[in-house]
Amino acid sequence: MKKDLISIKDLNLREIEEIFLLTDKLKKNKAKFSKALFGKSLALLFQKPSNRTRVSFEVGMYQMGGNSIYLGPGEINLGVRESINDAAKTLSRYVDGIVLRTFEHKNVLEMAKAASIPVINGLSDFSHPCQALADLYTIKEKLKTFKGRSLAYVGDGNNVCNSLLFAGAKVGLNMKVAAPKGYAPDPRVMEEAREAALLNKSGIELFDNAQDAARGADVLYTDVWASMGQEEEAEERKKAFKDFQINKQLLGLAKEGALVMHCLPAHRGEEITGEVIDSKNSVVFDQAENRMHVQKAILMVLLRCR
Ligand code: CP
Ligand code: NVA
Repeated sequence: MKKDLISIKDLNLREIEEIFLLTDKLKKNKAKFSKALFGKSLALLFQKPSNRTRVSFEVGMYQMGGNSIYLGPGEINLGVRESINDAAKTLSRYVDGIVLRTFEHKNVLEMAKAASIPVINGLSDFSHPCQALADLYTIKEKLKTFKGRSLAYVGDGNNVCNSLLFAGAKVGLNMKVAAPKGYAPDPRVMEEAREAALLNKSGIELFDNAQDAARGADVLYTDVWASMGQEEEAEERKKAFKDFQINKQLLGLAKEGALVMHCLPAHRGEEITGEVIDSKNSVVFDQAENRMHVQKAILMVLLRCR
């Protein structure tokens, strides 16, 4: 049976731990895995721009002896030139896996249903599971353990926030979200994350101000105020989010040596100051690097178990 990665909810704790163990090996010994995906091909079907996701998947495939094919917004023209169903079925005859970056989350679900090969969500409006896995891996690398640690996410209750909530709850990280009124994560996401957190004896809390969330946190995390596809709301969002910035004062409330994280791309001077993103607390480029190592592990698990 093929396995997809649509959401963190597709993985149990054991599977997450397995991915991280394999990531350790891949990171330590790149050469050993240089033929791990020999002869395999991956299609990258992207309806939105990308730096990290595209490059890390492409280089990751290359490093394991495989091949990748980038299909940008103008190529397949999903849903216009041909249906998701027909594109999925055709690609299933050529390649061994699909990474889809799209707008509506239902597109990823539809593609996974129609494809006979694994489909990986490379970002939808609802979730960004590869990002959250790389983020958790980075936290583990730096702090060694999740239990008893807390992550304060300051900003928009968006795709990155949703995936972090699901992922944090699974590994037992205490999650604190600070968002302005009207921009908190969907209550259903909060509820589902709370249920998972309860099983792992961790907590999920929602705050209406950044300070209360940041106080005593081990990790401060933020993302852009306006995501891809929300460009028209940018000005309105700048007003709503003006007090939800990771800056020196906010970092001063977190634990001594707290990690500062951002999925990137960042809008310096908006959700985070340049001073903080360039500070010794910042691990943003380790996160970016780990996208590749973690995704190589994901590819090995999904593309080889078919
Ligand atoms: N963090 C992330 O997914 O970056 P890109 O949009 O550049 O791929
Ligand atoms: N929330 C952002 C994440 C980019 C990696 C977006 O969807 O544009």
